[in-house]
Amino acid sequence: GMPKNVKIVEVGPRDGLQNEKNTVSTAVKVELIKKLVSSGLSVVEATSFVSPKWVPQLADAKDVMEAVRSLDAARLPVLTPNLKGFEAAIAAGAKDVAIFASASESFSKSNINCSIEESFIRYRAVTQAAQKLSIPVRGYVSCVVGCPVEGAIPPSRVAYVAKELHDMGCFEISLGDTIGVGIPAYDDGKKSCKLWRTEVAGGVVEMRTPRWTEVVDGNTKGDRGDGNELESEGEGRGTVLPMLEAVMAVVPVEKLAVHFHDTYGQSLPNILISLQLGISIVDSSVAGLGGCPYAKGASGNVATEDVVYMLNGLGVKTNVDLGKLLLAGDYISKHLGRPSGSKTATALSRV
Ligand code: HMG
Ligand code: MG
Repeated sequence: GMPKNVKIVEVGPRDGLQNEKNTVSTAVKVELIKKLVSSGLSVVEATSFVSPKWVPQLADAKDVMEAVRSLDAARLPVLTPNLKGFEAAIAAGAKDVAIFASASESFSKSNINCSIEESFIRYRAVTQAAQKLSIPVRGYVSCVVGCPVEGAIPPSRVAYVAKELHDMGCFEISLGDTIGVGIPAYDDGKKSCKLWRTEVAGGVVEMRTPRWTEVVDGNTKGDRGDGNELESEGEGRGTVLPMLEAVMAVVPVEKLAVHFHDTYGQSLPNILISLQLGISIVDSSVAGLGGCPYAKGASGNVATEDVVYMLNGLGVKTNVDLGKLLLAGDYISKHLGRPSGSKTATALSRV
């Protein structure tokens, strides 16, 4: 059933601003983070300690972190792609970090310049270093529904990557529909759903899914490219539900977060179905900031204002003051010189 409380992880200053065409000054980033924290958000992802050649928008990570490190009303995680980034983050005062893997081999290469398996080696070094300092590590899985290069990604692949991140010590796993191609699904109770079997780290799990059939012969590896063909059953009845079911079979639901980009406007229904499955952590971006450099037309994360509006209406507690959040959204939209990507902000500004 629906959770009573939802933790919102605000990713605007990181995921949003990393993808905005206009680079924002350090002072504006710091003020934005302060406004977001004062709206009651308990987690605000502040920046990334990544290569400034790859993400020039966040080249001021050290200055941003040093300016916000003493804000103690919220956790302020930062992205760290490797040990170098982790050490720089800690030196600047970060007390929470996040690592980011992908369920798509192609996206892993284009995003962090290494294969999925190579990324696990890097990330194990980060989680081990973090453990020594008692620093919590969040793990992201990108392309949980689709990849701009590979197309549809099988749920078994997402479950595999999520479990690896969980096993290496991530306290929370965020499932990212990076290009926003997911649609929800509903369970009409019909028996047309097929069973598929996949072997995840030793244990065979069986689950119902309308979307994917795995042809099993003897030793299932639960992955593509191992001789076990994956067959699509045509349109199916959604893509997010089978993915979540596959991940929930290997990672406890209370550790899962959902991270939807809103390219096709499907984030809110996708969030709703995630909540109905018991997920209680939702990533979002104030004013719907962002885009995706790897997918033409892809938009930012679902707007935090819209998520809070929906949750307020559902009677689910978030501890976020919508009025103050709207002010934070106005502030950054004015600085970017563009209208807010939040429907709620647009509606309320016209009243
Ligand atoms: P590389 O070029 O393969 O790295 O990049 P390298 O180890 O060969 O080093 C090359 C240069 O980068 C060297 O500098 C390093 O010192 C430097 P040079 O000698 O040329 O002057 N370098 C660094 N500098 C600063 N901080 C670091 C760092 N590491 C190396 N941590 C690397 C590999 C991973 C560094 C690069 O590909 C990178 O920075 N990628 C980050 C990409 C990124 O931030 N993507 C967006 C975040 S993920 C996302 O948005 C998805 C998510 O929202 C969920 C979803 O929506 O699905 C989380
Ligand atoms: Mg993202």
